[in-house]
Amino acid sequence: MEYSVSKLTGHSAAELERAAAECVRACADEATAVRSDSELKAFRDRWVGRKNGILTQINDLWLKGAPKDAKREAGIRVNELKTRIQGLVEGAHVAGDDPGSTAAERVDISLPGVRRPIGAEHPVIKTMHEMVAVFQKLGYSVADGPVVETDYYNFEALNFPPNHPARDTQDTLFIAGQQEKPQRERLLLRTHTSPVQIRTMEKMRPPIRIVIPGTVHRNDPPDASHSPMFHQIEGLAVDTNITFGDLKGTLDHAMKEFFGSSVKTSFRPSFFPFTEPSAEMFVSCFICGGSGRRGADPCRPCKQTGWIEILGCGMVDPNVFEGVKHNGYDPKRVSGFPFGMGADRIALLKYGVDDLQLFFQGDVRFLQQWA
Ligand code: DAH
Repeated sequence: MEYSVSKLTGHSAAELERAAAECVRACADEATAVRSDSELKAFRDRWVGRKNGILTQINDLWLKGAPKDAKREAGIRVNELKTRIQGLVEGAHVAGDDPGSTAAERVDISLPGVRRPIGAEHPVIKTMHEMVAVFQKLGYSVADGPVVETDYYNFEALNFPPNHPARDTQDTLFIAGQQEKPQRERLLLRTHTSPVQIRTMEKMRPPIRIVIPGTVHRNDPPDASHSPMFHQIEGLAVDTNITFGDLKGTLDHAMKEFFGSSVKTSFRPSFFPFTEPSAEMFVSCFICGGSGRRGADPCRPCKQTGWIEILGCGMVDPNVFEGVKHNGYDPKRVSGFPFGMGADRIALLKYGVDDLQLFFQGDVRFLQQWA
């Protein structure tokens, strides 16, 4: 028989207790008998419905109807009972469903699934992959090294002696608390990918041909063309009889592969501590075709010169080989050329982006353009 709220005769504690126990048992039984969503709704309405639910009736009959001196006791018991009934009603579910899952939480398998958009290669990473691929086709293999580097690899082994003014051009970020160590062991964030030249020559005997993509850091405040974190692509070829002609031929070919066969290259003297001689390589502007003008307007990327500076290069300085001589790099026997370029700058030019910060802000609306 269906439970209905009994009228109490005396409102004694014992009578209230018995009535409450009977009520809880009935509610629990009804909760386990729920077989469908509509039954669940009816069950809820019947027990906790505001207008004439069982809890409302109990409130009226057992509490409001209690004589004055029994009110306090009745209040405590009715409140306890309410908490238990509400717990049972909340926990009720259609038999066979996961306990605790309400109709609203259950899965409608006829709905389309959640779509997780597939990411795309970031334009800087894409540029690095493309440039690396150009050198891989020439037989270069990929090398890498740590971003937290020692003073030795980042500077000393690359022929930047302690206190050499060329160190000042690198705006180095140092790791704190290193003063106790000898200078060459002190840690810093590598300012260029060039230390990987040394690390690789220590591990591999000549001949080598390596390309090194990587992250570097400098103490540069962020603006449209600077970032404290950026990317470089380095390269190094060492063998017997490598000449400056090999350097020019290799890099000219690589630039034609990367930017298109119509670009020209131009080498101009420069200085780097680890190369002798040193050069900067320019590529004819692939935006204006080298004319310096775009229709009636000046070409901004090449500053109207028709040429864009792309990389630094040179012949390995004999002092650099001295440090790895024990591994087959005798400067009298081998020669080689390294080169290094900024991947972010190349990506800016290639994709016509005018603010470097856009690459690192992670705004999906910007990055989606390459998806
Ligand atoms: N490491 C240099 C820099 O970050 C770039 C560079 C110049 C790398 C000449 C080279 C090189 O390998 O030969 O400023």
